[in-house]
Amino acid sequence: MRYTQEDQRRLYELSKQLLDMSVPDDKAVAAQMAGQLRAVINYHEYRYYVLDDPVVSDYEYDQLFKKLEAIEERWPELVTPDSPTQRVSSDLTSAFPTVRHLAPLRSLANSYNAEDLIEWERMVRRLTGLPDDQPIEYVVEPKFDGSSIALVYENDVLVRAATRGNGLEGEDITPNARAIRAIPLQAPFSKVGIALAELRGEVLIRKDVFEKLNKERVAQGLEPFANARNAAAGGLRMKDPRETARRRLDAFVYTLNYAVDAEGNDMHRPLGTHEKAMQLAASLGFKVPDEGHKVCKDIHEAIAFCEEWEARRDAFPYEIDGMVVKINDYALRERCGSTEHHPRWAMAYKFKARQATTKLLDVEFQVGRTGAVTPVAKLAPVHLAGVTISSASLHNEDFIKSRDIRIGDTVLIERAGDVIPYVVKPLPELRTGQERPIEFPRACPVCHTPLYRAPGEAIWRCINNQCPAQVLQRIIYFVSKDGMDIEGLGKANVERFYELGWLRSPADVFRLDFEQIARLEGFGQKSAENLKRAIERAKHNPLHQLIASLSIPLVGKKVARLLAERVQCIFDLMHWSEEDFERIEGVGPAVAQSVKAFFANEGNVQMLREMEALGVNMCQTDEDRPATPAAHTPLAGKTILFTGALQHMTRKQAEEKAEAAGARVLSGVSKKLDILVVGEKPGSKLRKARELGTVQILSEKEFLELLGEDVEA
Ligand code: IVH
Repeated sequence: MRYTQEDQRRLYELSKQLLDMSVPDDKAVAAQMAGQLRAVINYHEYRYYVLDDPVVSDYEYDQLFKKLEAIEERWPELVTPDSPTQRVSSDLTSAFPTVRHLAPLRSLANSYNAEDLIEWERMVRRLTGLPDDQPIEYVVEPKFDGSSIALVYENDVLVRAATRGNGLEGEDITPNARAIRAIPLQAPFSKVGIALAELRGEVLIRKDVFEKLNKERVAQGLEPFANARNAAAGGLRMKDPRETARRRLDAFVYTLNYAVDAEGNDMHRPLGTHEKAMQLAASLGFKVPDEGHKVCKDIHEAIAFCEEWEARRDAFPYEIDGMVVKINDYALRERCGSTEHHPRWAMAYKFKARQATTKLLDVEFQVGRTGAVTPVAKLAPVHLAGVTISSASLHNEDFIKSRDIRIGDTVLIERAGDVIPYVVKPLPELRTGQERPIEFPRACPVCHTPLYRAPGEAIWRCINNQCPAQVLQRIIYFVSKDGMDIEGLGKANVERFYELGWLRSPADVFRLDFEQIARLEGFGQKSAENLKRAIERAKHNPLHQLIASLSIPLVGKKVARLLAERVQCIFDLMHWSEEDFERIEGVGPAVAQSVKAFFANEGNVQMLREMEALGVNMCQTDEDRPATPAAHTPLAGKTILFTGALQHMTRKQAEEKAEAAGARVLSGVSKKLDILVVGEKPGSKLRKARELGTVQILSEKEFLELLGEDVEA
């Protein structure tokens, strides 16, 4: 290791301080700050590029880099030859021969929000003199998080493939590129008069393929890859192309970097737009951005599309770390020009970082509705993916022990999609020696009953069913959206009513005194009446909803439906035998045990009897009876069509599934079409459907999810 533990701690703390500082006006202070910035940037580059284990997010690194650039721009005499700003980023090694690209492979400038993109368009207008009332058309594409590649075709044949290298020269990895099926070995460019072409693209691995690959590696006793990007980049640099082939790499192209006819005339102008160039590439057999790709009539549409994909990034089949916004028209691009580093006609829109590092200040143990005791990390507040985080899940005791996480540690946290943020790992190299181990309690922190851990389970539980923490959590769940869905009775109000002694069990929800509630501060007559109405409505909820609201361990929405389908009223379950449960497909002995235990507890039965007396529905309703598929699925009465290769089923199976769910399969894209399901390598159908603008486009996974089927990785 190049840095001592002490160095690392100092550089990490310094980075966090520098991130909070703005560029000073005083030159001497700026000179000192530039020196500090260089030191921390060098450290972060080492962690990222050499160790592949960064301790700050890409965003934080970019901010540090930008601060240094700003100082050096204002006082050019402060630039030093060894400043990180003077380094051309490069992935060159000596393992492969170096080749010169036909045209420079520039990088992209980064933006992080809508304002950045609007500011960029202003700059484009200043540069080109284009008036404000003339909209600029953009193409937005996914920003693939893989490994960059440049492919050269001469007289229709792939003659060379290279990595990006330093942008001017790259490593010749032609034999390996030939092992990637998505890269055509020949492509009839000559049909459109192109004699020599260089295409830029990205080599990457589909997320589901990556998971399988890692499972196979583990089964073979090999180390799993850290992430899909590393597996792809490494795959491109294998000595033996057969090894490359084994990684099942994929490749997209997204730029026609160079194109000339036999006389050497540039062929971009006759093509006119990026969109046309990509259509040409697709027709020649290349994979081009399709899902997550859109031609946008102005910057606002482009921004909306970027934001839409930021929210849906997990639905994308490949890892993406942002979107790329590109001016479509080649003539306008030319008027914008480029800097050494990036073109001015394109901009990356980077998604918010999902990982950050911060201090673990303390650990709290929370008791859930089924008694599970979970450790929660209390953190020094840190900004992550758009929100400030001050607590995160620590999973369970085994996780804490296996990672040796200590209070006082700097920890890496992650927040992906809608899931609760969680601790990924500690960074022991930043320890000061003051850290303390985490003591896992052996008794419930609320009711002090000794905790119990079932053999084979990772979770410690408080087994006192009447533990006040459990009771409160069960009431919170009972009224929540996933439970009886009582609007106006959120977590905060349940806690308040609990404190007041008004709620001691879910049945008490139906005994609330609305006159008293109306007198509470912050309530009033109107909201009390609204709450009363919502509670009245909930009394008529279908039986399956009631069952799913009761926090019976292992009984979620799916099992609740299966049970409700088979009883007249909830009390029938009291008399069910093991065999009754066994008859239901999808219900195992553990569920049977859990339901039996719930009804064996007199307190629970008493609570249900009270609810019944208070007017809560306990009987099977129309909604609980098994649905005839055609009437109830989201596909009922819809027209549907499939395109591209499906991964989880054959085309015929997919069509049968759709029909069983009440949909009608059409033979082509027309105005009559409601839904297009898109597999691998979709053809012209997808484009046509997009043009119509009225067709709902679903991935194979989304289609299966719509049918309520679980999709394996
Ligand atoms: S266009 C001159 N389009 O992002 C513009 N780049 O951070 C050329 N990348 O080096 C790049 N997806 O490796 C472009 N749809 C996309 C991209 C993309 C990923 C990569 C590319 C580039 C890096 C810049």
